[in-house]
Amino acid sequence: MTTAVVGSANLDLVYRVERIPSPGETVLAVSADAVPGGKGNNQAVAAARAGADVTFVVALGRDAAGDRLAAEARSAGAAVLDRRVDAPTGTALITVDAAGENSIVVDSGANGLLAGLAPAERDAVTAADVLLLQLETPIETVEEAAVLAHAAGTLVVLNAAPVRALPEALLAAVDILVVNEHEARLLAPDAGSPQESAAALATGGRSVVLTLGGAGALVVAPGAEPVAIPAHRVEVVDTTGAGDTFCGALAAELDRSGPGAPDALVAAAEFASAAGALSVQRAGAVPSIPTLEEIRALIADR
Ligand code: RIB
Repeated sequence: MTTAVVGSANLDLVYRVERIPSPGETVLAVSADAVPGGKGNNQAVAAARAGADVTFVVALGRDAAGDRLAAEARSAGAAVLDRRVDAPTGTALITVDAAGENSIVVDSGANGLLAGLAPAERDAVTAADVLLLQLETPIETVEEAAVLAHAAGTLVVLNAAPVRALPEALLAAVDILVVNEHEARLLAPDAGSPQESAAALATGGRSVVLTLGGAGALVVAPGAEPVAIPAHRVEVVDTTGAGDTFCGALAAELDRSGPGAPDALVAAAEFASAAGALSVQRAGAVPSIPTLEEIRALIADR
């Protein structure tokens, strides 16, 4: 069983601050660090650490940051299909406040050049059992990967972050859509509450996993009662990458169980929720992502 991830990688420049500055304000950082991140990279590492056999398709610059991101994703266990392009590796400027909340600005750099999948990249997508996508790379590429995978019978999971309007052809190829409350509202603005937006998006055989931060998650499958996934009560250090950890673990567990297994999505969301709870207790995106053993231990402890 294999999981393919097509997506972004960034070097995260992380500043810990007492509080995130307001417009026009300067604050002094408590600490500063540079760590691997990017939604695609975080999700690929999360899936690999959660036990999946991962291939990660990514565009990186010909620079030290690109070398570091590729090396660290490989050491997490992912096979990295990195195309090197004429742009610097993506970076993200992240401030994290004392409560663990963040604000992020991304300079896409090389991620913007992940366009038109090459034959080996297409093969990785169509050979996979599960394809995991996000929206930090050109939407045309996301759509191309999703449509190819869907035609090949691969389960397509899309995390619609950072949120933007989704082309019909992309949405039609998605089997499982993962969104937070803000993203659900933006994608189905006429529906009312985020839960109603999730229900509106769960059509045509497509399921929705609505993540609710400290309140857990909701699994909405078409024609079935929504299932609430309770959150683990933990001390929050840094929420950066927690959503990505959830998505990577969800994909890994779906890959392991086989998406057709009874209640596979609910079980995978419970597993993913444990992974996300572990990730918020540590600082950084990739450095905070738990292993399969850690996730299983937390589930066993509950
Ligand atoms: O989701 C968290 C990620 O968003 C960070 O790692 C940062 O790189 C941005 O892509």
